[in-house]
Amino acid sequence: MVSATTSTSLDDVTAEIVRQFDVSDASLRAISDKFVRLSRTGLELPDQAMTMIPTFVTEVPTGNEHGTFLAVDLGGTNFRVCSVRLNGDGTFNLLQAKSVIPKNLMVGNAVDLFSFLAGKVRDFISTHLDEHFSQSESHVLKLGFTFSFPINQTAINRGTLIRWTKGFDVQDAVGKDVCLLLQDQLDALNLRVHVAALVNDTVGTLMSRSYASPGQYPTLLGVIIGTGTNAAYTESLSEIKKLSTSSSSSFSSSSPSSIMVVNTEWGSFDNDLVVLPRTEYDEAVDLVTPNPGFQMFEKRVSGMFLGEILRTVLLHLNNTGLLFVGATSQELSTPWSLDTSVLSLIESDSSPELVSVKAMIETDLELSTTLSERLAIKRIVEAIGRRSAYLAGAAIAGVVLHTGVLDRLPYVDVGVDGSVFEFYPGYENLIRESLNAVLGADNEGKIRIGIAKDGSGVGAALCALVA
Ligand code: GLC
Repeated sequence: MVSATTSTSLDDVTAEIVRQFDVSDASLRAISDKFVRLSRTGLELPDQAMTMIPTFVTEVPTGNEHGTFLAVDLGGTNFRVCSVRLNGDGTFNLLQAKSVIPKNLMVGNAVDLFSFLAGKVRDFISTHLDEHFSQSESHVLKLGFTFSFPINQTAINRGTLIRWTKGFDVQDAVGKDVCLLLQDQLDALNLRVHVAALVNDTVGTLMSRSYASPGQYPTLLGVIIGTGTNAAYTESLSEIKKLSTSSSSSFSSSSPSSIMVVNTEWGSFDNDLVVLPRTEYDEAVDLVTPNPGFQMFEKRVSGMFLGEILRTVLLHLNNTGLLFVGATSQELSTPWSLDTSVLSLIESDSSPELVSVKAMIETDLELSTTLSERLAIKRIVEAIGRRSAYLAGAAIAGVVLHTGVLDRLPYVDVGVDGSVFEFYPGYENLIRESLNAVLGADNEGKIRIGIAKDGSGVGAALCALVA
């Protein structure tokens, strides 16, 4: 870490920290190159960190799909239950209920977690779908289960949990089929609901973007940049070499389809940190997570970690006597006390006195600041945010290069969802700078990026439909 001596000023140290978070064009290209290599390896070999999971989704929607489905979404701090009516014209109606997952269930046992989820499905059905129960005894509602963690998927509604990410740690669920864990608890409540599809949120994003904006060229990629980060894309079936060698797979290579959606699990790209940037602040953050050494790409990009990276830098500057001079606070020394929304807010304050930054630091950290301190904090925030978007851009460029899509099509469509992409000021422009650095301006111009709202609900419904 940068240490203060009597001659160093906050300005000098800030400049050095900003430099550490900088990612050069050459590094971005090295990241994309390695991404292409790891994509190939992951499609060929099982058990790679960047897992390249075949999802058994072999078609993407056209926009004409019809029907009403239930969808549930477990993947971040909230659990969502929704009913989705697909109107067949690219539009949908969505009704949803959100609940915070109690912290103790995130690190407890599988039965407690999944019975909590089933209970929320029961509550939703009895509040919103009474008519469902007036139907015949034999009517079963199909449910798409968005479960956004690495899964060893063996069929559209079968998959065992490889490992938890994003702060979850329910050990007795690892290695178990998460569809069965949920189905058992739904059955225990006598709900006539069938878990028909297991869907990663990135797959849902890809599906819902394809449904809602069917264009001349199909959507290639669904990306999440929220609590975690990941992407799914359409791959030629023949390229997924490990599918034909896997004994656990129930997929027949005689399938008439020629594509399959692959969930990359890019959060674990370059866990060995050969091409990813590393600062001592990243190392400190990694050590307070339940999975040190894993999800190293995610820990530099996604919302769960950006606030903690910032807090770590600010604490260091405070410890070296350069920031909040003579003061400190409990919040500043408590891991995870800063949310990523804090970075979005600091980034968007363009007032000369940085008044929102001032108020936010007073509320969230209970510390007062001088203008020069606030200017330094803003520069640090910009550096952390820019690095996140640049890395995300390099990975998107990696998928574009890996698929060679620009050799075949004049445009590529990318659907993105997640709080960082949606709310971080200027994030898409920063992604574009990175695409430009890796692919060149011409190719960058051929990449269409659009928000894919409610991907996990609508996408899961679409998967339940095709299941
Ligand atoms: C984590 C999960 C991944 C998910 C992503 C975004 O990286 O491992 O499955 O898609 O978060 O929620």
